Order: sequence, then structure tokens, then C-alpha cells
Amino acid sequence: MQKRQFLNATALAVLALAGGQVMAQSNTFKIGLILPMTGQQATTGRQIEAAAKLYMAQNGDMIGGKKVELIIKDDTSIPDVTKRLAQELVVNDKVNVLAGMGITPSALATAAIATQSKTPLVVMAAATSSITEASPYVVRTSFTLPQASVALADWAPKNGIKKVVTLVSDYGPGIDAEKFFKERMLFNGGQITESLRVPLRNPDFAPFLQKVRDLKPDALFVFVPSGAGAAVMKQFLERGMDKAGIKLIGTGDVTDDDQLNDMGDGALGVVTSHHYSAAHPSPLNKKFVDAFQKANKGLRPNFMAVGGYDGMRVIYEALKVTKGNGGGDALLAAMKGQIFESPRGPMFIDAQTRDVVQNIYLRKVERKDGQLYNIEFDVIKDVKDPGKAR
Ligand code: PHB
Repeated sequence: MQKRQFLNATALAVLALAGGQVMAQSNTFKIGLILPMTGQQATTGRQIEAAAKLYMAQNGDMIGGKKVELIIKDDTSIPDVTKRLAQELVVNDKVNVLAGMGITPSALATAAIATQSKTPLVVMAAATSSITEASPYVVRTSFTLPQASVALADWAPKNGIKKVVTLVSDYGPGIDAEKFFKERMLFNGGQITESLRVPLRNPDFAPFLQKVRDLKPDALFVFVPSGAGAAVMKQFLERGMDKAGIKLIGTGDVTDDDQLNDMGDGALGVVTSHHYSAAHPSPLNKKFVDAFQKANKGLRPNFMAVGGYDGMRVIYEALKVTKGNGGGDALLAAMKGQIFESPRGPMFIDAQTRDVVQNIYLRKVERKDGQLYNIEFDVIKDVKDPGKAR
């Protein structure tokens, strides 16, 4: 125990020192971008890496008199690995910013390192509400599951969906989705007849979907992390759930733009709520999608890409303001309160919560120009994370 306490104290001292050294540092500005480049969440890593590189290609790498250097590390979405990499990036590489975080457990495992070393941690993917509360150095450019889920629970009962079964991945974002969707459905006079949770790692949806078929709700509400949506869709259709009159609804993670076009016509008509669609009809988004596809062999950007792209924007603008002076605290201060137009629409970083405030769109899968897209048909403007209000 004593030895452990000593080690912890040493680690703290090293991290604190590393934070101090960054202040007195040279002409480079280092961004330590930790992503799942392999394993179950690899699509998230691929999307964010591509978006970060696109942002740099478009905006240059000399900012505020500093040369920006992007250091990308693969955490394979194992939180212990994320933590070790973050520690190495702070202590050895002396990064000015930590960024990425493909899943919630990775973000939570890294939060203490950000706090101890006073290094801003820009969360570009993970979306459990509580992440921003795990460290005062966290700034989020992705979204929160409560943000997305509440909008859908307002839409569903008005559109003939009264009885719903929920099916979520059994960890932070899934539990947030389940809770906030359910509370709002009940408030709106709807019913949740069953709440099912599937493991995050290697999920088998079949037994859960069989159960849903037997329960015969009006709709099945799904949250699974980006990359798992296609498997849910496939098994939902294989079991003939749609033909049995059960609608599939969910947060936009399930009709992820990275996979949607390969899901086939069975996905047509699926309604989801989210903060980003590659089909968002703004000139800025069209430019973003075109440039992203051009640089990545036609790959369509998804909501993870936009979280990475906007995360880079937040870092760049903060660097422009501070010119690298004042260390992590100055940088963090310059990240708070940023307001700008993103490919997703207008967004801002709430200075108090350090979380993203943004539009949430209702979308339906439709065929457009021969491809499947989430077509936005309604918008709830400037949504704050409902998870913060309690
Ligand atoms: C998360 O782990 O917070 C997470 C991952 C993927 C998503 C949403 C949330 O699509």
C-alpha cells in the first residue's frame, strides 16, 4: 500500500512537472491524438484520423507562430492502453493537448492525467454525459447520448409509436440513452415494455432480437456504438422484425454514415436523431464531405469525423489566441466559449460545462443520388446536454 502510494505520488509529480515544462517549450505545438485504429472501434479511429489530417491540410501547420505536430497513437479501445499512452504522451512527448477518445471508458481513464498535468483533453468521440465532469480539462466536440435520445422520445409518441422496447450496449452511453429515452417517453405518455442491454465486446444481438419479436412493441429503440449498427440492422431484417410491424428507431449511431450505404434497402425509412448527417444540406457541409471523400478514396465522413474536424478547429483557434503562451490553462480558457459553424450546423462550447451545444436533427433513411442517406426532416435547435441539468 505504501509503495503504491509512493508510486502514485511520483507519477503525480512527474505529470505536474511535465505540465510545467510544456509552458517553457519550443516552437512546436504537439497534439497527442489517441484513437482506436484497430479492433472493434477501428472505424472511429479511421474517421477521426482522416478528419484531423484534412483539417491540417486545409488550415496549414504553422499556427500562432508554432509548428503543429500531430502524434497519433492506437489504443485498440482498451482503456488501460489509452491511459498508458496518454501518460507517455504527456511525460515523454510533452504534448500540449490530448485528444481523440474513441469510447467512454478511454476518456474516463485519461481524465485524471489531464487534470494532474493541466493538459486540455479534447474528447472527439466518446459521448457519455458525465465525461466532462471527470476533469475540468475536458472539452467535448462530439455529442451526448441524452442530447440525441430526448429528441427522439419527443418525436415517437406523436408519430404512432407508443410502446417501445429499448436495446442498448451495456456501458456509459447505452445507459444514458436508455435512461433519457425512457424518462422522456414516459413523460410524453409512452410506454417502455422492456429494457435490454447487450455487452459492448463481441455482442450477439440474436437472442435479444428474438425476445423483442415476441414482445411485439411498436418500435425497438437502439443504441450501439459507431461500427456496430450494420450488424444490428442485418439481424433485425433477417428476423423479419420489420415485416412483423416493429419499427427500428435509435440515435444516429445505428445508421452511421460510415456503414449506412451498405445496409441495403431494408434500412429505408429508419428514423433516428443525431447531430450530424453527411447529407446535412449546408454549403459548408457539402464542401467538407467533398474534400473528405476526395482525400480518402470516396470514404463518406460520419459523425465521428465531424467530431474530429471540429475538435481540431477548437484546438487551432485556441492556439491562435494564446500563441502557445500560458500553458494548458490558457489554452483551455481559449477553448471555452468558442462558437462557430460546423459541417453539422451551428455549435458552441459552453464555457461553464465545456460541453457542446448543438442542433439535434430528426432524420429518415432515404435513397438520394443512388445512395442511402440520413435525410434530415426536423431540427431541435441549440440543445444543451440534458444530462447536466440534474
Ligand atoms: C462512447 O463510448 O462514448 C461512444 C462510442 C461510440 C458511439 C457513441 C458513444 O457511437
